[in-house]
Amino acid sequence: MKVEEISVYEAINSRTNNTVAAEVNGKLAFAPSGASAGTYEASSFVPEDMKRFEEELKEKIEGGEFDQRSFDEALIDYDGSESLEKIGSMGIALSLAFKLAEGYEKNRYFPYPLGNAVGGGEHGGNTAIQEFLILPVEAESFPEAIEINSKIYREFREKHSRKIMGMNDEGALVTKMDDEETLQKLYKVAEKHGARLGLDIAANELWNGEKYVYPEMGMELSPKQQLKFVKKIIDEYNLYYVEDPFHEDDYYNHKKLTVETGCLIVGDDLFVTNEKRLGKGIEKGSCNSLIVKPNQVGVVSKTYKTIEKAVENDYVPVVSHRSGETCDTSISKIALEKNIPIIKAGIADIRISKLNELLLEWQRMEKAGKNPEMGDLPLL
Ligand code: PGA
Ligand code: ZN
Repeated sequence: MKVEEISVYEAINSRTNNTVAAEVNGKLAFAPSGASAGTYEASSFVPEDMKRFEEELKEKIEGGEFDQRSFDEALIDYDGSESLEKIGSMGIALSLAFKLAEGYEKNRYFPYPLGNAVGGGEHGGNTAIQEFLILPVEAESFPEAIEINSKIYREFREKHSRKIMGMNDEGALVTKMDDEETLQKLYKVAEKHGARLGLDIAANELWNGEKYVYPEMGMELSPKQQLKFVKKIIDEYNLYYVEDPFHEDDYYNHKKLTVETGCLIVGDDLFVTNEKRLGKGIEKGSCNSLIVKPNQVGVVSKTYKTIEKAVENDYVPVVSHRSGETCDTSISKIALEKNIPIIKAGIADIRISKLNELLLEWQRMEKAGKNPEMGDLPLL
């Protein structure tokens, strides 16, 4: 594709922080940002010298012919580092805008929405565990899946209204309950609607260098005790999904948990959408699934390479929002193009832009007689 024009702008995200928007040939994309970001992620700041970088990138890119890979390479080359230390969030915003200008393909297989119902940790809330997630595994259509998640969210909120204090950074409910009470109460409501539970433990944030600390429950667990605790709650609450159960350098315990349970064990801070880190996990047998966040690795072509490597090695890709979000819908489009079986994009607040993208697409396909279907969820 010939790049006629690129532009970057300052914008604002759901946390009221600055972020970057970018246009390529008139198509617009925004950079998200995380609060519980892993150490091995690409840079995601808003650069002070954005105007100058924009001018220099215009010189370098405008008028040239690019595909996604060469466009991304031009950004990395200009930056001088793979992790985009100079241009930060400009990288992912421009790369996503290029992808949008080139266009996404659409498969007719839709992802299951993994919804963050109750939250804590770095995203705000009483629990140490960051996300208490619901997955509507019995839904037969995307609209039905959204309806189930919304019902569980509303029912939990009404049933426990005296203990609910509001919403956090991801639109998840903030409660006065501790981690185990949240699990017990959410399990009851989810079970009624045929949904399974998941957790993002985001264990990096609990790790003090020696122990995993759960202040509300007065627990400090060694890695061995953490393994035992996570196995216990997988059993008790029939968990389908556990993300980041150990800190980002602990490939060994991620492997043990994968081997010793029948659960989806998902690496987020462990892999950071990085093909090399995923490769190490595959070699060691750590996890059987990974979070895919394009801004963790900085550009779209690298994100796609990581997805392809995951699929080749039977790792389940889960495409995900960040806690700092905009109305950008790129991850929904990526999910449809790459046949991703699960999308983690919240339940309420600004995150509905991503769900609506898929909800509308489902209805468009139905109207056009294209028979949309739910994708294949790994059976556990
Ligand atoms: P983050 O959290 O976007 O704040 O990093 C999301 C997650 O850990 O999945
Ligand atoms: Zn996570």
